[in-house]
Amino acid sequence: MKKTILITGGLGYIGSHAVIEFVKSGYEVVIIDNLSNTNIGVLDNIAKIINYKPKFYEINLINKTGLKNIFSNHNFDGVIHFAGLKAVGESCKNIGLYHNNNIVGTINLFETMEKYGVRNIIFSSSATVYKVNSEINTGLKETNLTGDTSNPYGTTKFVIEQLLKDYKNHKSWKVINLRYFNPIGAHTSGLLGENPNGIPNNLLPYIMKVATGELSEIGVFGNDYDTVDGTGVRDYIDVIDLVRGHLKAWELVENQNTKGKMEKKKVESKNNGFFETFNLGVGKGVSVLEMINIANKVVGKDIPYTIKSRRSGDLAIVYSDSSKANKILGWKTKISTMESIENSWKFYKKLKIKD
Ligand SMILES: NC(=O)c1ccc[n+]([C@@H]2O[C@H](COP(=O)([O-])OP(=O)(O)OC[C@H]3O[C@@H](n4cnc5c(N)ncnc54)[C@H](O)[C@@H]3O)[C@@H](O)[C@H]2O)c1
Repeated sequence: MKKTILITGGLGYIGSHAVIEFVKSGYEVVIIDNLSNTNIGVLDNIAKIINYKPKFYEINLINKTGLKNIFSNHNFDGVIHFAGLKAVGESCKNIGLYHNNNIVGTINLFETMEKYGVRNIIFSSSATVYKVNSEINTGLKETNLTGDTSNPYGTTKFVIEQLLKDYKNHKSWKVINLRYFNPIGAHTSGLLGENPNGIPNNLLPYIMKVATGELSEIGVFGNDYDTVDGTGVRDYIDVIDLVRGHLKAWELVENQNTKGKMEKKKVESKNNGFFETFNLGVGKGVSVLEMINIANKVVGKDIPYTIKSRRSGDLAIVYSDSSKANKILGWKTKISTMESIENSWKFYKKLKIKD
């Protein structure tokens, strides 16, 4: 019997790639999304890639009755929870919106899961939960301190991590908490990728929109940091590598043979539940100018940029130590930054043709 997994936010950037990888790996997938940051065309593109249209419900997690109806229609083996708003800047302006959408929506999801006895979950957390005291953060580990978040978006992730610990402690949930660094790239078909409305928050979509001519130039905020070329350095992980990390995490939840490994690490608690955090990153950084230079090679022209002053709150270097995921999940990244940018470019060229 196929295992059935509910993917929240499954028509979003990362969720849509996860749908494809999970279906390809033999899982039955049910998607929910309220289309607040995507569109229904993504479902058609998923169907083109895998020759199959997964069951989709358009629903907001705030709608608890609707959630209950969905859970009563299916027998879920677990949930991968991607749904949420994710723009750091917007979260500082619309604090209530972020708290309500991300935290209240998630509380509804968790209560519904518990009501229907669905106790396996993978959660999309973020490197923003780490408490950083320095401009240079090389090799952040899962054991680093978290909290004191610098923006409401990060706070929602921090709070949800705490909520999940309650479910693990008191209801024996099996929780894998994945802290993503900076996802980039697109599906190799060019049919799925990250296409935010308006001005992108993330570097690569910005670079792509300048390359297609939709935006005029990239603003590089600061070139006097203590880094390889003075510009900020981040850990960019390809979206396919990232979702493969979810597959490995799911195997860990399901596969009792790995229990031995977990017990050795003292992560299995008395009540049979577990909560385990993994960083998903490449484990090394790429600077803004390095990204632009690789993109120049991919698109075959010089993408215009201007150096601007530093933005307050920006850090010089942030990258992960993802060795725990390498060891326990048996996962490592395979896709180079160049390949990620090539796939993104394929996606943006297709969008341009559609315009
Ligand atoms: N992309 C990143 O840089 C990044 C980094 C770290 C963590 N994350 C987390 O990973 C997850 C997925 O990110 P993404 O980049 O795919 O974002 P995305 O915006 O592309 O996808 C999120 C999806 O959730 C849906 N959604 C939002 N609120 C909802 C609600 N209340 N009910 C139902 N659906 C809702 C949106 O319509 C969207 O399709 C998010 O939780 C995000 O915070 C993303």
